Amino acid sequence: MPESAGPSVATTGARQFPADFVWGSATAAYQIEGAVEEGGRGVSIWDTFSRTPGKTLNGDTGDVADDHYHRWAEDVQHIADLGLGAYRFSISWPRVQPGGSGEFNAEGIAFYSMLVDALLAAGVKPVVTLYHWDLPQELQDEGGWTNRATAYAFADYARRMAVELGDRIDVWTTINEPWCAAYLGYANGEHAPGHTDPVEALTAAHHLNLGHGLAARAIREVLGEDAKVSITLNLHVNRPADPTSALDLEAVRRADAVGNRIFLQPLLEGVYPSDLLADLAHVTDWSFIQPGDAELCQVQMDVLGINYYSTGMVRFVEGAGRVPEGQTPASVLVGVLDVEGVPVPGPYTAMGWNIDPSGMTELLLSLHARYPGQPLMVTENGAAFGDEVSADGRVHDERRVSYLHDHIDAVGAAIDAGADVRGYFAWSLLDNFEWSFGYDRRFGIIRVDYDTQVRTWKDSAYWYRTLATSGVLPASEDIRY
Ligand code: FCB
Repeated sequence: MPESAGPSVATTGARQFPADFVWGSATAAYQIEGAVEEGGRGVSIWDTFSRTPGKTLNGDTGDVADDHYHRWAEDVQHIADLGLGAYRFSISWPRVQPGGSGEFNAEGIAFYSMLVDALLAAGVKPVVTLYHWDLPQELQDEGGWTNRATAYAFADYARRMAVELGDRIDVWTTINEPWCAAYLGYANGEHAPGHTDPVEALTAAHHLNLGHGLAARAIREVLGEDAKVSITLNLHVNRPADPTSALDLEAVRRADAVGNRIFLQPLLEGVYPSDLLADLAHVTDWSFIQPGDAELCQVQMDVLGINYYSTGMVRFVEGAGRVPEGQTPASVLVGVLDVEGVPVPGPYTAMGWNIDPSGMTELLLSLHARYPGQPLMVTENGAAFGDEVSADGRVHDERRVSYLHDHIDAVGAAIDAGADVRGYFAWSLLDNFEWSFGYDRRFGIIRVDYDTQVRTWKDSAYWYRTLATSGVLPASEDIRY
């Protein structure tokens, strides 16, 4: 990824997006479905993790979430009313295969089949994610993603979903953000299963890559070469704390290797980066990468999904890896590389993430430069803010409108500069369970009242509908909703 600040985003005048540009919105199963003990669903690592005291804000769990499992028809109606061309959702693996291997659950499969049919009937293309972090607990009991067998189990599950949902699915996304699954799950403990071991995290990263390759092949075996396969990555735009420091630029290279190229290179080039292997040779001998594995990770991808929210900044600190006794190893992995994350200038969203649309353009263009001809799709982008319901009953979330506007403008700038970006999905359709932040952080363009489950369109939803139905992004000064 690029090492310096990218082009600033000029918000001059309106933008017309291509007629076939896909406007969508995204969710994930554990964040919205609830009904965790219904319909024959098995236990996932997020059930276990969120029920462990101290792991989520306010002890929140996905037990009820948005009750989408029961309210899916209403939610599809909202998607249709928004005029969206596509909806990105995930399948809960333990809902369709409770133990993660062996028996499948007909009731769980029927739920997704019904959802897909309803989307198609509404003229909305289903973009499915097979793994958005809710691993069946039984597979975790055998080591989860540190266990090579999980990659093969994942491919079996993918194959069955291809049989069941077949050509009704527009795009098959294997995995959402393997970076989070591997590093937040196994290195800093912020996500399920909550482990803090750098070698486990690197092992998991490889098995997620391998799982992608095996699953994509399985889907194409069932549906033929025309089945569109994808993966969604949260790549990091890392900037050096001091752009004139050779050491900070070296820190950027290391962070890029462990954060971005550990996924990009095996997935798109069929190799693991040699600099990464050398950087971490003092931590692991990489023996979990078996001969031929890197090639297996690579499949031709119809579209590469990109989730973008903010940028990062790093600097070189000798010994940053030696986490003091008793301190949470917040970034144990960059730590072992003598790399330290430093605070990025604001403004910030409620997540504390900085708002920097130029990073979106920069990321898309750097991918275009490295992988010319690879179609891209922004599969997540959005912002949490402390929304309030006004006296008029509406949610005037002008900061979210402006965040979405400026980032979509940044996507348009990347298209103008040559990147092949096929679509944009706002995160999220609904306020939902934001992982370790529970229900405290609201990303939805539709508000969910968690006491009543009433859905209310925020101003951003009205604004996004105008964009999705016209393909015209207004100039900033002309934003209306
Ligand atoms: C991404 C996740 C998604 C959501 C957003 C805010 O990392 O894929 O589930 O939590 O962040």
